[in-house]
Amino acid sequence: MSNTQARVPLKARKVSFSWDGTPLHWVPEDPFTTHTINVLHLLLPAGERWFVHVYKQVLPYIRDERLREDVIGFIGQEAMHSQAHDEVLPHLREQGLDPTPYTAQVDWFFEKLLGDRTLPPGRPRRWWLMERVALIAAIEHYTAFLGNWVLNAGELDRRGADPTMLDLLRWHGAEEVEHRSVAFELFMHVDGSYSRRVRTWATAFSALVFLWQRGTRFFMENDPTLIDGKASFKDFHVRGRQGLLPTTGDMVRSIPRYLSRDYHPSQEGDTEQAVAYLAASPAATAAEKRSA
Ligand SMILES: [Fe+2]
Ligand SMILES: [Fe+2]
Repeated sequence: MSNTQARVPLKARKVSFSWDGTPLHWVPEDPFTTHTINVLHLLLPAGERWFVHVYKQVLPYIRDERLREDVIGFIGQEAMHSQAHDEVLPHLREQGLDPTPYTAQVDWFFEKLLGDRTLPPGRPRRWWLMERVALIAAIEHYTAFLGNWVLNAGELDRRGADPTMLDLLRWHGAEEVEHRSVAFELFMHVDGSYSRRVRTWATAFSALVFLWQRGTRFFMENDPTLIDGKASFKDFHVRGRQGLLPTTGDMVRSIPRYLSRDYHPSQEGDTEQAVAYLAASPAATAAEKRSA
């Protein structure tokens, strides 16, 4: 097994960040890049809380001890990610950017639309659980994609992006790379239907694009320092070419990979790089010291 595929035991690192010194536009003079990445703070608190909620229900269906351990490690990491992104929101509020109108919609989306429905026990309830397990596997294809991207996004450093925000993103990104196989392996273990994989990918991808562009526009329109804040696909495409956001091409190419019958997340990203980042990350090493 190569290093990029080595299995690492998953543990939650109890990180904490101080946002006092982080400016509103933490990518200097680039509100669009700042706010596009800021959408993570809107989606992940509710989204990752929902992962945890769904996975606790699927634990009884796991008949493989190693996978169960991975899922439990995954739950611990995602709970911490959700909390860490949530803690950025009061800081945005202090800077005049109140995210509540948007996060209220995201909460509804994950808690109500994708929540537990009143279904009879047995097949209907199991169907809805499997559908959500497959959705999480599709979303995790993108969290691993983004994690791998941010670990390698040297242009953000060159533009002087805020080091605390970069550490949050890279600590999270590195753990996404570290646990990138868990959601897919769980889906394959409990269900693995190819038609379900395709269907839930289409749902997850459309929802992500829809929520993301709305979130970026929400921030641009409500940023108190911008007179006529707008966001367009062209802005996104240009930042991708500059290395400040993922490129459109990389995103398009990630689609057939997930839909390929040979797909396995270990082919994406580099575990060794993720582990190396976590060993040097200011937040992760401070967490390690506190727990020791
Ligand atoms: Fe996460
Ligand atoms: Fe994840």
